[in-house]
Amino acid sequence: MSRYSRITGTGSYLPPHQVTNANLVTQLAAKGIETSDDWIVERSGISARHFAADGVFSSDLALEACKSALQAAHRQPQDIDLIIVATSTPDMVFPSTACILQAKLGASGGAAFDVQAVCSGFVYALTVADALIKSGTARCALVVGAEIFSRILDFNDRSTCVLFGDGAGAVVLEASDTPGILSSDLHADGNHVDLLCVPGHVCGGAVSGKPLLQMAGQSVFKLAVGVLETAARAVLEKAGKTEADIDWLIPHQANIRIMQSTAKKLKLAMDKVIVTVGEHGNTSAASIPLALDHGVRNGQIRPGQTLLLEGVGGGFTWGAVLLNF
Ligand code: ACO
Repeated sequence: MSRYSRITGTGSYLPPHQVTNANLVTQLAAKGIETSDDWIVERSGISARHFAADGVFSSDLALEACKSALQAAHRQPQDIDLIIVATSTPDMVFPSTACILQAKLGASGGAAFDVQAVCSGFVYALTVADALIKSGTARCALVVGAEIFSRILDFNDRSTCVLFGDGAGAVVLEASDTPGILSSDLHADGNHVDLLCVPGHVCGGAVSGKPLLQMAGQSVFKLAVGVLETAARAVLEKAGKTEADIDWLIPHQANIRIMQSTAKKLKLAMDKVIVTVGEHGNTSAASIPLALDHGVRNGQIRPGQTLLLEGVGGGFTWGAVLLNF
């Protein structure tokens, strides 16, 4: 009998402190930096985002998302034999945020590691977990996206600091006799490292370089629109499906205009796209599982539906996963 992997529960968590565009406009104005709610909404679709409090780490946000996903899957931490955390804002240089999360969950013994593919991280992590389950290496996995991007934002750069937020999302992915994940498609082009990066590193006990996010927004935008269409078509083809089979598109939540453009290219109405960017901002690796859990909990996404998840981000990385929910 073939062995597949299937999502059996979803969860997510946003830190309680919501920062509206109006809050940011006031904060930036105090430094002489001009922005407006109109500009942010019109260019990105973002109205608000959440920022984690001092002393809270990505593993803390991940823990809350995982507790909720485990409850939805009727699983206990002891059932978990694999944890993959997609993050670009780990708690420490090492060990991995996944190991720290494992300890906080009280689920020791299984494999645990992080995946670093920036905003494509969750799609990468889900693909790796699927492969480990299909190969028989793991049986019940937690796949998580968790980020605290507020700590790597340059609040003197109005073109980036208004776009990102903090949060976490998680799924329980289990071995199954029936197909859940149908196909995956992952890519990277390291020639575009400079387009979107945090060019800092730790050296001799100090931070060297500039450990704050910088992005060539327009170039990223153009690349994103092209690769998201290609990745979507690739997973559909691999699974022998067409755009008409998609019940929900759950794209990385970076910019409403990128999502609208992708939907148009795939001939999907926007009412088939889960959109959370307005209230969450861009939460990088956390954005897809946050949007997925949002859609599940508000009743939009139902069991048996076909979901297309896709992400694009720094690296340059991109990818998609097609699945039966
Ligand atoms: N408020 C007011 N004006 C602003 C702001 C701001 N916050 N930021 C920039 N501007 C100004 C610029 O200075 C520029 O002014 P100028 O014309 O006088 O020079 C003008 O607005 C237009 O700026 P653009 O950069 O051309 O604006 P654009 O329409 O391209 O939108 C944005 C910028 C939102 C960043 C867009 O390019 C984008 O979404 N890019 C893609 C981001 C993305 O998808 N990232 C994905 C991965 S994220 C990850 O991996 C971590």
